Amino acid sequence: MNKEKTFTIFGGTGDLTFRKLLPALYNMEAADKEGLSTQIVIVGRRDYTSETYRDLAREWVEKFARLAYTVDVYERFSRRIIYYRMDITEEESYEGLNEFYKKIEAKEHIFYFAVAPRFFAGIVSGLKHIRGACEGKVVIEKPFGEDLLAAKSLNRTMEAFFTPENIYRIDHYLGKEMVRNIQTIRFANPIFQNVWNAEYIDCIQISALEEVGVETRGGYYDHSGALKDMMQNHLFQILTIVAMERPQGPAVEEMHQEQMKVLAALKAPEEIAENMVLGQYEGYRQEPSVKEDSVTETYAAVRLFIDNDRWKGMPFYIRTGKKLGKREMQVAVVFKSPLPGLEPNILNIKIQPTEGVYLQFNIKKPGESDDTIQAKMDFCQSCLQINQMNTPEAYERLIGACILGNRAWFSQWDQIETSWNYVDSIRKMYAERGLLAYPYPAGSNGPVEADRLLEKYGHAWFD
Ligand code: BG6
Repeated sequence: MNKEKTFTIFGGTGDLTFRKLLPALYNMEAADKEGLSTQIVIVGRRDYTSETYRDLAREWVEKFARLAYTVDVYERFSRRIIYYRMDITEEESYEGLNEFYKKIEAKEHIFYFAVAPRFFAGIVSGLKHIRGACEGKVVIEKPFGEDLLAAKSLNRTMEAFFTPENIYRIDHYLGKEMVRNIQTIRFANPIFQNVWNAEYIDCIQISALEEVGVETRGGYYDHSGALKDMMQNHLFQILTIVAMERPQGPAVEEMHQEQMKVLAALKAPEEIAENMVLGQYEGYRQEPSVKEDSVTETYAAVRLFIDNDRWKGMPFYIRTGKKLGKREMQVAVVFKSPLPGLEPNILNIKIQPTEGVYLQFNIKKPGESDDTIQAKMDFCQSCLQINQMNTPEAYERLIGACILGNRAWFSQWDQIETSWNYVDSIRKMYAERGLLAYPYPAGSNGPVEADRLLEKYGHAWFD
């Protein structure tokens, strides 16, 4: 362990820390990754000692770590964890934290803000009392603000203290294996690369469907909704990777530039009612901490266009929702049929829960008949245990990248700003038209209006 490097988690007793961050850090220990072994300081208000916290964390790690839990690895891992009790909203307590850092000889800092954004400014003020903090790195979670205005103010606060290059805005979808695979599938295969445009593709559908509802997060979610919680960040990141031009080189900036060009070319729909459907699952208003007359959407489907040479006139359909009949995240590319009556070729990039690629194409029906049928090739990458073993989980990958100073797969401020702008504008248009979220039964496919949105244009969701 490198004692000088310290990874501090503010919000160390929250759900994110237990479910994602600690299991990810444990996996790194289990995989024995060089250079990633830091001291781990858990900051929380609850009355734990390092020992009692380590015991508590053990259960979560056992349950959520990707790699097998073993007593030996956990002992090694937990020795790196130190619990520090303080109230992060009290500026004077950071003096004590500074003393504590001196005692444990912490010099290089990574701060992880695993708390709601309303606490960020207070933590930043407190960190002024910590020697060397402003030269450290900081990792922040989405949502980056609640809208464009709030995001800008948050960004000013962060950039006034930390060097912009040291701010890591995590979007965990960018750590998912099949999201990382999109570029290879696109650019390493002439059979896809050469037809990846509106001339050959009929539509592209990006779906992120969840079975779970809002569970314990009603307080946060009710101020957010599907557009802000999933679309503005995760799904727009995927959209830009699917639609961007090939980056000129491997440098971080080159990919970001191409993604930015896509965001800048997003066209706001002229008639929102014809291009967007919001929904709310039945029973949502009875969820804990949700307003009983809430109009927050738990489902969103949007038809949008990218105004550039490659994509002119071709619709992208993006949908996401909670409490649906299945959990499934995929990017389906539906090609144009070469002849009327023929089924389209379909390439489906399966992101989760199964990771893989499905390809559908036409062949002659075997035997005497000259009819055409579909061949359906289904490659399951995650079905092989060796692949599961060797594929880091999203948080593990991204935290590791941050420790090593690799910024490639983090959201950039200009991307966030532009996507907020778009999402704010479509939300506003929807509200101005007096449109509301359509109710849909829990366990269904979402509101039927979202199916009609595609039917109107001769399309259907690929399931
Ligand atoms: C989070 C959203 O960013 O992503 C949640 O805030 C959502 O509402 C979650 O459930 C989905 O992540 P995953 O990795 O389970 O698809």
